[in-house]
This record gives sequence, C-alpha cells and structure tokens, in this order.
Amino acid sequence: MTAEAQTKGSVAVEFDGVVKAFGPVQVLHGVSFSLAPGHVYGLLGENGAGKSTLMKILSGYEPLTGGTLRINGQPQQFTSSRDAEALGIVLIHQEFNLAEDLSVAQNIFLGHEKKKGWLLDDAAMERDAAAALAAVGLQVDPRTKVRRLIVAEKQLVEIAKAIARRARLLIMDEPTATLTPGETERLFKLIAQLRADGVTIVYISHKLDEVEQVTDEVIVMRDGRFVARAPTSEVTRHQMANLMVGRELADLYPPRDLVVAADAPAMRVRNFSVPGWAQDASFDVRPGEILGFAGLVGAGRTELFEGLLGLRPASGEVEMLGKPVPNHKGWRSPRDAAKHGLTYLSEDRKGKGLHVNFGLRQNLTLMALERFAKPWLQPDAERGALAEAVKDYGIRTGSLDVRASSLSGGNQQKLALAKVLQPKPKVVVLDEPTRGVDIGAKRDIYFLIQRLAREGLAVIVVSSELMELIGLCHRVAVMRAGRLVATLDADHLTEEELIAHATGTADTHAAA
Ligand SMILES: Nc1ncnc2c1ncn2[C@@H]1O[C@H](COP(=O)(O)OP(=O)(O)OP(=O)(O)O)[C@@H](O)[C@H]1O
Ligand SMILES: [Mg+2]
Repeated sequence: MTAEAQTKGSVAVEFDGVVKAFGPVQVLHGVSFSLAPGHVYGLLGENGAGKSTLMKILSGYEPLTGGTLRINGQPQQFTSSRDAEALGIVLIHQEFNLAEDLSVAQNIFLGHEKKKGWLLDDAAMERDAAAALAAVGLQVDPRTKVRRLIVAEKQLVEIAKAIARRARLLIMDEPTATLTPGETERLFKLIAQLRADGVTIVYISHKLDEVEQVTDEVIVMRDGRFVARAPTSEVTRHQMANLMVGRELADLYPPRDLVVAADAPAMRVRNFSVPGWAQDASFDVRPGEILGFAGLVGAGRTELFEGLLGLRPASGEVEMLGKPVPNHKGWRSPRDAAKHGLTYLSEDRKGKGLHVNFGLRQNLTLMALERFAKPWLQPDAERGALAEAVKDYGIRTGSLDVRASSLSGGNQQKLALAKVLQPKPKVVVLDEPTRGVDIGAKRDIYFLIQRLAREGLAVIVVSSELMELIGLCHRVAVMRAGRLVATLDADHLTEEELIAHATGTADTHAAA
C-alpha cells in the first residue's frame, strides 16, 4: 500500500477477477482493475455492460460470485451496504432508492438515525440534513415528503444522503441524468471539493462531455469485462465512444428529410393551458414530422403534455386527425389518449413509466391490451411481441422472463420506448427518450424514430439535450415560463439560438 492510501480514511480498491452471475446468467466475467484514492474515475460502457452491477458489488448491495474485492489491500466479503459504508464506500443509485413517504431528512438519515438518549433527535437530523442539502444546492424544507419532489430534486436528495454519510469513496451512477446545467455545474464543484479532500469518486455517465470535464481517468467496460483505461486528457470523446461499443461509430443522427409531409396535422392543439404551468399553447404536428420541444427545466414542457394526457387538470382545444377531442380538455387518462392514437413516454421512468416489479411482457403490452386480449389474454402473442421488441429496440436481457427491475438502466429506457409504441399510435410524445442510453443505442433510437416518422408517425420529442433536438427534429418549439415563445426550423439552427429563446435573450428576433 502506498503512503497516500494510508492517510486518514483513504480507500484504495482492487477488483481481482470479479465474477457475477444472476442464476444461470453471468454478467461479469472476471473484471480486474484498481482505483487509487483521491482520483475521479469515469466508468464507461454500453447499456448492460455491467457498470452498475460492479459498483453494487463494491458498495455491498450485491455479493460477488467469484474473484476477490480488496479494499486497502484487505479482501472483503460484504454482506450488506452497511459493511461497505463502514469503510466509507457509498453508492448513489442510478434508480433512486428513496422512501417516498418519508421526509427528506428521514431519508437522508435512514438507517443512521441520530439519537438523543433513547429518542430520535429530529432537530439534529433536520439541521444536518439542511447542511447536506445546502452543499448540493437544493432548497427544500428537510421535512418535505420525498413524494412531493420532482425527479431532479430526488436526485439531489440522493446525493445529499451520500454527503451526509461522509463517504471516502463515492460512486455516482448517472447522477446528472435528471439535473439542469446549473445543478450539474454545482455538482462538479462539489466533486472537485471532495477530490481535494482525498475522496475517491467513480462517475458513471453516458454524457461523454461531462466525463471529459470532471474525471481524471476513464475506465471502459464491455460485455462484463474490463477493456481499457486511460488518462482522460489522452482520449477524445470519439475514442471513448468507440472503446465502449468496440467498433467505429458512424454518424449519430439520421438524415433529416421530411418524407410524409401531409398538410393536415395529425394533432392540432389550440390555446391549451395547464394551470400553474402552461398558458395558451398552440401548435400542430404533422404526420411524418419530428417536432422538438426545448426549454429550461420548469418551462412547463412536461406539464403541458401531462395536461394533454389527462395527468393534470387542463383546458384548451385539441384535434386528433381532424376530430375534436371531447370536452376540448385533452384526454381523461393516458389510456384514453392511447385509444385515440396518442401515447406518451414519461420522463419519470420509474414513477410513471414502467412497473419495475412486473415482467417485461406485462410492461410491454400494458397499453395495448386490446391487441392481445381476444377475448382473453393471449400469452403467446404477448411473448411474440416481446421477442420482437427485444430485437427491434436492442433490449439486452439474459432472459425474457425477468422483472423490468433486473434490466440495466438504459435497457429499461428502451423497454419504456417499446411500450409506448406498442399501441401503434398516430402521435407519440417522447419526454427525454434517450436518458441514460449509451451512445450506440442512442443512435439506434434516433434511426428508429426517423423510420417511424417516415412511416407516417407524428413524433414530439421533449429533450434537454439541445444537440439531440437540432440533430433529430424538423422543427423545434421553445417554451419559456409556461409559454410557447418560438417555433424554429431545425435546418441551420444552433444551440446558441435555442438557448437565447429559452432564456429570453432573443426577444428582438423571436418569430412565433
Ligand atoms: N437482478 C438481476 N437479475 C438478472 N439480471 C440482472 C440483474 N441485475 C442486472 N442484470 C443484468 O446484468 C447486466 C448488466 O447490468 P448493469 O445494470 O450492470 O448494466 P450497466 O452497465 O449499468 O448499464 P446501463 O448503462 O444501462 O445502466 C444486464 O444485462 C442486466 O440485465
Ligand atoms: Mg447502470
């Protein structure tokens, strides 16, 4: 052990031939590499490469089934996350691990409650929770129930929870998937501080620009194996991507030509309002068209579509394929909308998208039951649809008979996408469709969206990735503070222009 590793509370890690199997399915095939204290490591790999699984082993959430894990030279057999935490190893989960009905402070101290004598010391916990929340820049009352928070806030609570545990090795699994650029910047400052304190950080992300910005070294895994490591400054993003997928990646975006340009809109929305979130939005989307929605977090994009889908009270006029929607109020529920040809992929994959404790098959066909119930459920037809979806969407799974929760994060996203396309909609709204998806799979999803548009589907893409909107869409609508402020042709559109409209600094040129 180096002298550095012996300094107070440092954690040096050595994976030595680590193997992991879930039943008959082996997902890690002898992974060996080491991590030195005080560095920030980027852990890269395609969806299903085994990143989260390896990190769950390091943090005591999963036992290894072969090989050895050494911490500061000592072999370890963690039986729970508490064992790992005792050595200062803390994992911030990719899929949040919060108790929805407890308060923020209770979540932060769950399992580590502070006591005064025999009683819980709520005041002390709330005070310390407030300090951890301040460190991550989240302004909520520590007594708020987690259920009431939006996804970005839940992510920040997860990070605050790790900070409060005084981790010496902190693993962040896709921490910025749901954060705004401002929140991400703050997180990066926090990472720099922790690093200066000698904390080791493992940073898992598919956002290669962030990996480039925040890590000292990258480690690449593929198919459950270690494939390469290099100082971040010595590899380009393009090289990182190629190492991940194991081949040369071609253009990320498909050609943008508009093939089916019927004049009649597939969906026509007029003066649509969602109280508190969106006012008087009017827009059309035509068959074959990919319409983007840009805006800062809080601009009301998600809420606008949640209103349209009957998930929030709303008012306005909507026409689908020339027919007015009854009551001029949007639909009663996502199921009602699906019957009329509109489906929605929620940005909140775990909360509103998938039933993670259900099987893949049940998840896939949930919105298209009419197709599979003739007159009762046809398991063979469902199984066939699942096999097809797994192939079409490149969902990686060892078996078709597992729960959705056993898929890797990016593969859950692909399943959610397959699910909303099962009812064969005329219009689909995709809210953050490539969140957590690796760069190769992202490209597949873009080409799939393009293909569906060519077949006449009208696609609305809500995304916080400006390049994704510019690269994929025909037109981009921009929302600011609940209003649709511009609709721009995507040809020659730049990120700067979009930002200017989203922040209101482009008012002089704003074309509606
Ligand atoms: N509990 C489980 N049961 C069965 N298979 C599992 C289980 N957990 C993970 N797997 C499988 O292990 C493989 C690796 O998954 P893992 O979550 O580690 O991938 P990942 O690299 O984190 O991917 P992503 O970038 O999508 O998050 C996947 O094929 C996944 O389906
Ligand atoms: Mg993962």
